[in-house]
Amino acid sequence: MERKIKSIILAAGKGTRMKSEKSKVLHTIFNKELLGYVLDAVNNTGMAEENFVIVGHQSEAVEEFVKNNYANAKCRLQSPQLGTGHAAFQAYDDLKDFDGEVLILCGDTPLLTSETLTKFINAHREGQAALTVMSAIFDDPTNYGRIVRDENGNLKAIVEEKDAQDAQKKIKEINTGVYLLDWKRVSPSFLEMNADNAQHEYYLTDIVKWTIKNGLKAQSYVLENNEESFGINSKKQLAQATKILKERVMDKLFAAGVTIVDPDTTYISPDTQIEPDTIIYPCTYIEGKNKIGKNCKIGPFARLRGDVELGDFVKIGNFVEIKKSKIKNHTNVSHLSYVGDSDLGSNVNIGAGTITANYNHITKEKFNTVIENNASTGSNSVLVAPVKIGENASIGAGSVISKDVDANALGLTRAPLKIFKDWFQKVKK
Ligand code: UD1
Ligand code: MG
Repeated sequence: MERKIKSIILAAGKGTRMKSEKSKVLHTIFNKELLGYVLDAVNNTGMAEENFVIVGHQSEAVEEFVKNNYANAKCRLQSPQLGTGHAAFQAYDDLKDFDGEVLILCGDTPLLTSETLTKFINAHREGQAALTVMSAIFDDPTNYGRIVRDENGNLKAIVEEKDAQDAQKKIKEINTGVYLLDWKRVSPSFLEMNADNAQHEYYLTDIVKWTIKNGLKAQSYVLENNEESFGINSKKQLAQATKILKERVMDKLFAAGVTIVDPDTTYISPDTQIEPDTIIYPCTYIEGKNKIGKNCKIGPFARLRGDVELGDFVKIGNFVEIKKSKIKNHTNVSHLSYVGDSDLGSNVNIGAGTITANYNHITKEKFNTVIENNASTGSNSVLVAPVKIGENASIGAGSVISKDVDANALGLTRAPLKIFKDWFQKVKK
């Protein structure tokens, strides 16, 4: 049986450089929180049985996010924040009787993948180490803790920039802040930590020296692609990470047979699945979790906002927004429409400017629209949800539909047309 791990995710820090009132880890890429990327990466290894998120700055908002989205995660408050070692220590009591491996990482590294974490965990097990540190090589290692090795190349210590001697500052191998510990053997190190350093903080990095001093094996695992360790500290870095993620997504989609006409102007979230022969036209923005079938045409200028499921041969045209909706095969939403909280059958035709009115601003409630197979809506229809349009039904252009329309029926609300003859001449006089 696969051995399970537990994780500690450090997310109490202030993130001063974000210049934001919001916790750093709640900033989003493709509408998903940075902390969500980290928790997903840990959970997607398939090995995490429980995760502890260490919160501090804006703790209530972070706790709420975790509670609403991750059943296997718990938050622990660190107050005041006395350093990374002190942060991880906040889960010490929870893990007291745990006889397994604990993964420690930071909540602001959205580019770290579950594949890499899996390799890292396997390297720890194969090396039979008590502690494995994930390192990376950077041409410019400024600000990172440096990996110090002995004359045989074995890991000796991690030295922070502010504590480093000049020679150590030249080391290009840095600490990414990801660790795997055999908890029973290495956790006593937390009881011996002190803040005797330049920053007067409890450094998590001190567990390396402790492990070696106690005759246990500590090793480092060098990250193949150093970009994965990228931590977000500023709005600029948030944009840089978005770009990297987006390029990764494009590469995967191209390899899977998806056509993306202009990758530069197209944004697709990593949680979007797209089948071969679908074409994504320029200036399309797809965020959140979505599933798109084969031979669809999306865009140009389309927006999918998440929880969207499209069958095959679906067309989503220009200036169309789709949110939380299922749309079956051969259905067209070709222009200028909003479809939200809806189920559309197959072979449906949505006329230009059709809007599903799904939201009551006063009660803040949202309602569903159902449109069955082969139905059609005329241009500028407003479908006031909750509402159902039956199979083969038609909606006349310009209608406001606030009651269900039966199968095969025509639904129409329209003020009678008046024609005033020779209007032009009358007005001219
Ligand atoms: C830390 C490492 C450094 C490594 C770098 C990688 C230490 C002493 N140094 O440095 O070797 O190269 O990360 O990015 O560990 N946090 C808390 N509570 C605290 C302090 C920090 O939860 O009291 C959290 C932060 O929110 C952040 C993470 O820990 O997610 C790292 O903290 P940060 O201050 O960025 O660490 P560095 O000084 O950059
Ligand atoms: Mg710091």
